[in-house]
Amino acid sequence: MFEARSIFDIAQDQLAFTTLVSEWTTRARLGSARMKAFISEKYGPPEALRMAEVEKPVPVADEALVKVLAVSVNPADWRSMRAKPFFSRATLGLLRPKHRILGVDIAGRVEKVGSGVTQFKPGDGVYANLLDHGLGGFAEYVSVPVEVMSLKPANLSFEEAAAVPMAAVTALQGLRHHGEVQAGQRVLINGASGGIGTFAVQIAKSYGSEVTGVTSTRNIDLCRFARR
Ligand SMILES: NC(=O)c1ccc[n+]([C@@H]2O[C@H](COP(=O)([O-])OP(=O)(O)OC[C@H]3O[C@@H](n4cnc5c(N)ncnc54)[C@H](OP(=O)(O)O)[C@@H]3O)[C@@H](O)[C@H]2O)c1
Repeated sequence: MFEARSIFDIAQDQLAFTTLVSEWTTRARLGSARMKAFISEKYGPPEALRMAEVEKPVPVADEALVKVLAVSVNPADWRSMRAKPFFSRATLGLLRPKHRILGVDIAGRVEKVGSGVTQFKPGDGVYANLLDHGLGGFAEYVSVPVEVMSLKPANLSFEEAAAVPMAAVTALQGLRHHGEVQAGQRVLINGASGGIGTFAVQIAKSYGSEVTGVTSTRNIDLCRFARR
């Protein structure tokens, strides 16, 4: 026996079906325009980050869309995630994170370039520092202004390249810009085993200075290696 159905019920079913088909069509059309990312919606520990599907970025004229293959985590990332110290909320966002996707140092492959980009092409291996350019590294893709992006040296893996930008630039700023390091000087590096310290030891050596590193006993070998 069939149950009698009102015109209203049938119309409602048809509407639901049409909506479903429309959603499928939109998803199929946008399928490649979605990506996975770790979303930061509230300050807190790593558990506060949530993996979600979001829109894949579209590069503007002077940007390249990069498929992220490696990302490094620096103190700046956990400070942004937890909003520590508290006053950093003035720039990070007072009540909640201004940047929905964190992640500063990335390495990956160029997928697409904006209309004004001539120095990079799809397929290039690159690395970049997104600190002053909206972050966004904890995602499958990120749009990177080409002024903060470089070709990845062939002898570096993507993981190695992603570990370079922020820590190495900080070490370079400290030694060259502020310290004005000179050949023959004696340089003391506190925290020589850290992200910045390992670069600082090598940079100071490359300037011809005599380097002394301060580190915990368990990291002595690492510092000796960096000093070679
Ligand atoms: N990474 C960046 O891009 C960046 C940029 C700007 C500013 N900073 C700031 O620069 C500092 C260092 O950053 P990092 O990335 O090099 O950090 P990291 O990789 O965590 O290294 C920390 C270093 O500090 C040493 N250390 C830890 N506790 C110590 C203590 N109680 N006494 C003496 N040494 C101690 C560690 O040595 P042992 O483990 O051998 O004990 C290690 O060498 C942080 O304050 C960070 O916020 C970092």
